[in-house]
Amino acid sequence: MDKIVIESGQSLEGEVKISGAKNAALPILASSLLTDGQCTYHNVPNLRDIESIKQLLSHLGAKVESEGDVVWIDSSGLYNHEAPYELVRKMRASILVLCPLVARLKKARVSLPGGCAIGARPINFHLKGLESMGAHVELEHGYVNVSVKNLKGAEIYFDIPSVTGTENLLMAAALADGITILRNAAREPEVIALIDVLNQMGADIKGAGTSKIIVTGVSSLKPVSVKIIPDRIETGTFMVASAITGGDIKILDCEPDHIGGIIDKIKLSGSEVEIEDKSTIRVRGTDEIKSIDIKTLPYPGFPTDMQAQFMVLMSVARGTCIITETIFENRFIHVSELRRLGADITISGNIAIIKGVTALDGAPVMATDLRASASLILAGLVANGATEVSRVYHLDRGYEYIEKKLEKLGAAIKRVK
Ligand code: EPU
Repeated sequence: MDKIVIESGQSLEGEVKISGAKNAALPILASSLLTDGQCTYHNVPNLRDIESIKQLLSHLGAKVESEGDVVWIDSSGLYNHEAPYELVRKMRASILVLCPLVARLKKARVSLPGGCAIGARPINFHLKGLESMGAHVELEHGYVNVSVKNLKGAEIYFDIPSVTGTENLLMAAALADGITILRNAAREPEVIALIDVLNQMGADIKGAGTSKIIVTGVSSLKPVSVKIIPDRIETGTFMVASAITGGDIKILDCEPDHIGGIIDKIKLSGSEVEIEDKSTIRVRGTDEIKSIDIKTLPYPGFPTDMQAQFMVLMSVARGTCIITETIFENRFIHVSELRRLGADITISGNIAIIKGVTALDGAPVMATDLRASASLILAGLVANGATEVSRVYHLDRGYEYIEKKLEKLGAAIKRVK
């Protein structure tokens, strides 16, 4: 299994290009199931999760081809309504095929994704929404079986604004009879990106970016050619890389409008942030990182997917701060590994108290999930000596060529096979 070895000491400088967003690409590629022509997707990142969804779509009968960052999907041959355990267990986001299958084939059998390292992550909102739209939902031997004669528009309320829950039900509602109203819906840029794509396919969806989304069902959708939006979490991760190394990084091809919360916290921690034009951000780190409190919240609040990376920055800041995680119940799994590098972090329920230390020490550490892996790499950039991160397959799920991008910025980083 691959490992990543990082030697500290370099302040990172130069330019880095941001890739397409994994969490926008996944639902958008799944939405190809809603039409029976060929869709073209540009700026698709080369990631393990993207390979997983492509494999799943092929298994369902879609014709999937790719070259560079372009993916073509033709779902006219869609025949299979079953997403098996072997494919779903690789990636929870496979659940995103559930509603497109029901909308197109009137039935679906999808393996339950189960929990993951960061939390139990149920899918009850997705299922409750489908039931409100008239579908019959049954759990059997680890699978969810859904069947329906005709999906009907409904009023659906989310107890928590779920990102993939909103995306899944939007895809069902797009081809349902009548009007669906989603209340307390997710407002993440990835949800807006999916709505843009569905509307280009001929759907009638209003209220993108607000918590009330109104979908008037249409009878069919047409193929599209679209570009995936930039990855805001990758952008934030490189902002922290510059802040933590006292660097000077120009981040290109990003979307500053999507990362207001991250920009604010990076500035408060002492770095200079300049938005140079509508797709370039320059981050200049400082010698004296300030401690600041952070609370994760649904968008436009501070993203849970940036919590681990910020915790590393706070580990070497002046002072003490509190990070509160409100989205996932177990998203502090990186803490025990960060402690091995010398970080002073105490956990009490969903609160982490971080006392900044003057230096971290390199050590062998183990990645436990995608964003935890990124936090260990960031720690390695400043920990004295070598840090060896194992289980980097987690990292490969969501960061395109991260070690190459960091190396280009001056990091002493290598992948060991
Ligand atoms: N929830 C329920 N029931 C549901 C759905 C969600 O109780 O049916 C709860 C979850 O357990 C959680 C909260 O609602 O406590 C929010 O979860 P959400 O459904 O929004 O998460 P998700 O859609 O499964 C997406 C991203 C995650 C990101 C979260 C939060 C994708 C493919 N995944 O997950 O990304 O952390 O939203 O922003 O879009 C990552 O990229 O590393 C990652 C984990």
